[in-house]
Amino acid sequence: MSNPESLVPVMEPYARHVLVCTGGFCSTGRKGRALYAQLAALLQREELLFGPRRVKRSEAPCLGVCGGGPIVAVYPEGVWYGGVTPEVLERIVVEHLRDGREVREAVFHRLDPVAG
Ligand code: FES
Repeated sequence: MSNPESLVPVMEPYARHVLVCTGGFCSTGRKGRALYAQLAALLQREELLFGPRRVKRSEAPCLGVCGGGPIVAVYPEGVWYGGVTPEVLERIVVEHLRDGREVREAVFHRLDPVAG
């Protein structure tokens, strides 16, 4: 019997990674958790779970913002969305993840990569 910890990890190709804060400091009432569940359904609906446009999703207990949430971050662009409602999340999936256009009015931060 093989030891799972000795196996080399394998990552299927993906286009983007979405992080959703499910913590209780940036929003109340577990709004992030509801969004995380909604995200799965939206990704499936838009056929973004498999293939070259595959989007990975992860939930995090805190993304270090702790206000103005729920917080959702999209990589590799490093675009951070705040105050994400179910309606805004649907726009993020359709406009950003599917069509490649940021939902600018909900963006509060962008990654500023260090040159070099
Ligand atoms: S609890 Fe959501 S960013 Fe910290």
